[in-house]
Amino acid sequence: MKAVIHTKYGPPEVLQLKEVEKPTPKDNEVLIKVYTTTMNRTDCGFRSAVYFISRFFSGLLKPKYQTLGCEFAGVIEEVGKDVTSFKIGEKVFGYNDTKFGAHAEYMTMAENEAIVTIPSDLSFEDAAPITEGAHYALCDIRAAKVKSGQNVMIYGATGAIGSAAVQLAKYFGAKVTAVCNTKNVELLKSLGADVVIDYQKQDFTKTDQTFDFVFDAVGKSSFGACKPLLNKNGIYISTELGKNGENIFLALITPILGGKKVLFPLPTINKEDVVFLKGLVESGKFKPVIDRRYTLAQIVEAAKYVETGQKTGNVVITVA
Ligand SMILES: NC(=O)c1ccc[n+]([C@@H]2O[C@H](COP(=O)([O-])OP(=O)(O)OC[C@H]3O[C@@H](n4cnc5c(N)ncnc54)[C@H](OP(=O)(O)O)[C@@H]3O)[C@@H](O)[C@H]2O)c1
Repeated sequence: MKAVIHTKYGPPEVLQLKEVEKPTPKDNEVLIKVYTTTMNRTDCGFRSAVYFISRFFSGLLKPKYQTLGCEFAGVIEEVGKDVTSFKIGEKVFGYNDTKFGAHAEYMTMAENEAIVTIPSDLSFEDAAPITEGAHYALCDIRAAKVKSGQNVMIYGATGAIGSAAVQLAKYFGAKVTAVCNTKNVELLKSLGADVVIDYQKQDFTKTDQTFDFVFDAVGKSSFGACKPLLNKNGIYISTELGKNGENIFLALITPILGGKKVLFPLPTINKEDVVFLKGLVESGKFKPVIDRRYTLAQIVEAAKYVETGQKTGNVVITVA
């Protein structure tokens, strides 16, 4: 089968499209023919290993799993003998950031992992980008215990995480203020944001509103800059470690001190989360934003674009 492999950590050019052996599902696994995958910040982070910590999961000196791709949408082609919850021919989507594998024509998943059937009438292209940004956003929104009537600010609201966070915070009943570039103001209104601040026209920290939760979905701000925006017991979460890893330190100290605090939840995902996101897609409460489309042969260009840090939502890769 065709697969994109990388035998060493490095820039997008380490990705190579090769012929490799088709995987064989174990007794508890399904074999998926991948139709659509994505290129996202998780794939890029594990490929570049710029954050050394990722190597503790993906291999200290070289990648343990050579094919990246954490999001997938495709069709079950084979089932292991112990599999009971999936049938050959079913359309499925999901997420795997432990052994990845979706940048290929075929991949395997254990049936109890983050894989579910595709909502009826949803295309592979719309199903593949449901999980990556949304599960990070969901973890952070759950950690902040966002509930109906709360005032939430989302900075970097047009990334994969931010655009999901706007829709999820609305689903949980919050009043959402989204911060973005001029070109994305209309997009954020269409995603349900109640207030949109164009950071090219206004300093987002100079609003007269205060918030129960400020979520920096692109990791470009700091607790210090956002503290005046928080209510008395307001919560700040960033997707990045911050200057000198300050967000980790602040997440340890500020909850003990009381008042305004920083949280740094570790992201997790399981089958129930994917079922939850599927439900939101089916009920029209969540729709992943798609920016560009590439083919598997254009994977290096796709990675380069994602690494500009300027994509709007998600970048989709067509495999078949
Ligand atoms: N290491 C990992 O494994 C990993 C995995 C996932 C995510 N992350 C981190 O999580 C963050 C978000 O990921 P993502 O995929 O959601 O991001 P993304 O899709 O790459 O975000 C791009 C968006 O960020 C906005 N942006 C860029 N610079 C900005 C700035 N200075 N101020 C405000 N907005 C800015 C842009 O919107 P505008 O055009 O509106 O400015 C763009 O639409 C990133 O920092 C990423 O590194 C890390």
